[in-house]
Amino acid sequence: MRDIWQKLISGQLDSLLQSAQDTVPGDVSAISRLRRKGTLAEVSIVLEALEARRRSRSRLRESDTWLMDREGSEQATRTTVAEHKARRLRSVIGEETVIDLCCGIGSDTAALAQSGPVIYVDHDPVRVELTRFNLGQSSKKPSNSHPLVADAKCLPLPPLPLHVDPARRVDGRRVHDFEGMVPGPEVLNRLIGRHHSVALKCGPGISVENLPPGEIEWLQDGSDLVEATLWCGDLAQSARRSATLLRQSLTISGEQEPLQQSSLKNPAFLHEPCSVIERSGLVCKVQGEVAAGEWHPGLGWLAGEEERTSPWFRSFAVVARMGWHEKKIVDWFRQQGCAPASIKTRGVQENPSQLIKRFKGDPGPWILALLRRGRQIEACILKELIPLTG
Ligand SMILES: C[S@@+](CC[C@H](N)C(=O)[O-])C[C@H]1O[C@@H](n2cnc3c(N)ncnc32)[C@H](O)[C@@H]1O
Repeated sequence: MRDIWQKLISGQLDSLLQSAQDTVPGDVSAISRLRRKGTLAEVSIVLEALEARRRSRSRLRESDTWLMDREGSEQATRTTVAEHKARRLRSVIGEETVIDLCCGIGSDTAALAQSGPVIYVDHDPVRVELTRFNLGQSSKKPSNSHPLVADAKCLPLPPLPLHVDPARRVDGRRVHDFEGMVPGPEVLNRLIGRHHSVALKCGPGISVENLPPGEIEWLQDGSDLVEATLWCGDLAQSARRSATLLRQSLTISGEQEPLQQSSLKNPAFLHEPCSVIERSGLVCKVQGEVAAGEWHPGLGWLAGEEERTSPWFRSFAVVARMGWHEKKIVDWFRQQGCAPASIKTRGVQENPSQLIKRFKGDPGPWILALLRRGRQIEACILKELIPLTG
């Protein structure tokens, strides 16, 4: 397979790639037409590369011109995230050469190379070649970059600033802890001890307890919680945790603390924390922005009396509230002549996608939230507050 990827990268399969552009996956007659231009293995790799482009279009800005294998594209860092990390790293190290270890298909490398030199390293020679090709496709000319095929276990380089993105899949399944990363903790701890500036990419579900010292920054892009980065050495700020909303360019940091509680029985407003503050444990840092307390210990949602919005929450006015009784709620919506716009649940077994089928009519403006408060399940009919802008 490696020699076929090399042929594709070197342009020898361009005519096959061109002819395969519009092939629908599984179209047997189109595949047999393509067989006239290449072997079965060549056709299969060209189709894999085109499918990887299609699937990563919403995440990788320049994917339409990139070459990538399926697994490499799935593991590649979203462009917005790669750019954020590159900006943050460069704000500390300036134009010093950075090593991008475990470069994969080069999404992080491409962002890092926009503002300074990069040495990109992977133990898989095809991935290094793919990164080299993809850097060459960049619409903005990248800085000097140097490829290196090497194993992280014996990185033959001086202790330059380092970005490392270990593989986080074992037998096709995602792993969420430091111990499951490849290369593993022994290699990573050694690198963190040796290099003064290290950024380690982790999944957003990473368990904090076993991570080496440093600042963990969770990143949210739109409504997607996408990544956590462990910033070590001189890249770390003093707090252990931080949370960033990429589109709003907002960051908060601090330590995890218990939430202030609310004693309101009939709150006028409820606030759902966005994923990045929940996962980072930093809801406590911003609950003052909506002047609200947790409605019940462990519930996660906040209750308040003031009409407030914040980028860190989705906020709702409470239109009606009753104990959860399916027929009553279905009747309430039937009287309004619509179904819920969506259903949200916390701590209850009801499955929103099943439950929504029991309502008739088009979705109306109200959201149904089923929230467990101790033994009680509250059914809240909510109207979302539109955040003030400008
Ligand atoms: C998650 S991917 C990197 C994705 C990359 N940041 C991107 O945006 O395309 C992980 C990469 O680590 C590489 N890798 C795994 N173990 C390695 C090791 N011991 N030494 C060097 N590279 C390794 C894999 O070949 C794979 O390409």
